[in-house]
Amino acid sequence: MPEEQCHLFDPSSIPIGEKKLELKTAEAPVWTENKAQLIQRYLRYFVFITKHGTYLDAFSAPQSPDHADVSCAAKLVLESDPKWFRNFALFDLSKPGIAFLQNLATANTVTKRTIHVIQGDSNVELPAFLAKNPIPEKEATFCLLDQRTFECDWQTVVEVAKHKKTGNKIEVFYFLAQGWLDRSIAALGNPEVDLLKWWGNDDWKVLAKMPGSERGIYLAERFKKEFGYRYAYAFAIYQRDGIDAGKVMFWMIHASDHEEAPKLMMRAYRNVVAPLEPIEQLKMEFGADAASTTANGSVATANPQR
Ligand SMILES: C[S@@+](CC[C@H](N)C(=O)[O-])C[C@H]1O[C@@H](n2cnc3c(N)ncnc32)[C@H](O)[C@@H]1O
Repeated sequence: MPEEQCHLFDPSSIPIGEKKLELKTAEAPVWTENKAQLIQRYLRYFVFITKHGTYLDAFSAPQSPDHADVSCAAKLVLESDPKWFRNFALFDLSKPGIAFLQNLATANTVTKRTIHVIQGDSNVELPAFLAKNPIPEKEATFCLLDQRTFECDWQTVVEVAKHKKTGNKIEVFYFLAQGWLDRSIAALGNPEVDLLKWWGNDDWKVLAKMPGSERGIYLAERFKKEFGYRYAYAFAIYQRDGIDAGKVMFWMIHASDHEEAPKLMMRAYRNVVAPLEPIEQLKMEFGADAASTTANGSVATANPQR
């Protein structure tokens, strides 16, 4: 049984009267090998609300190329049905990784879909891409920041979170290493410089000193305070096997302005390895045919209870 639990309840972000949002992640843990399926499943639910979308993935090459069919988030999102996401921008440093992503883009047969594959440091390339290709305020947009440890500069998070000016902010899935964070900090030759770039200020020292079980919530709070996200939660991702079995390896911070987002992420978390619900079922549940999009990309649905 995993040793750490995560109770997702933050009174400041839950409208009064709404059912308490609580998820004991250790009771049905998401394992590291299922983290891409978590993203895919969540976005599959969400697209029934938005019926369109842009997916940005800053560290998108498959970590396990031999298991990319089940573990590469970019591949899973591209292949997810219904194929209503219109725009993709996939970044990575790795040349073989980029070749893999280019093959995915070449194999695309979905009409009216644009897939950009960009090689380079995403801390440079992603902000440059957004500057060149501003995201329309009404476009539902999601950004996966699946770094291994310290690869994602805080300034990149800032560029993503502050990109939209009036609509719902770009929704973020940010991976914070937990299982090896202390070892990785200890191994840095110049932590003051490297971690200032990664964390954006000296509070990495506060993070480093606090118990691992509190770090996810600490960072989730930062997304709310620093950028004004309406919701931000930390979801535990656990190690299944080996000497670290049962330990939290990552915290996935999910930050969104959309009121359906926390509920849908909890649903995706609970069901991550269950067979996907049929499209017809989700259409009925989400009232997709009856949904009407509001000015900032959020949606009024026939059935708000998920
Ligand atoms: C944890 S893996 C990503 C796994 C992937 N999201 C998946 O679902 O399989 C991290 C990736 O980041 C890439 N990477 C590391 N530093 C980078 C940087 N500065 N810019 C872009 N990519 C980087 C690595 O090449 C690696 O493919």
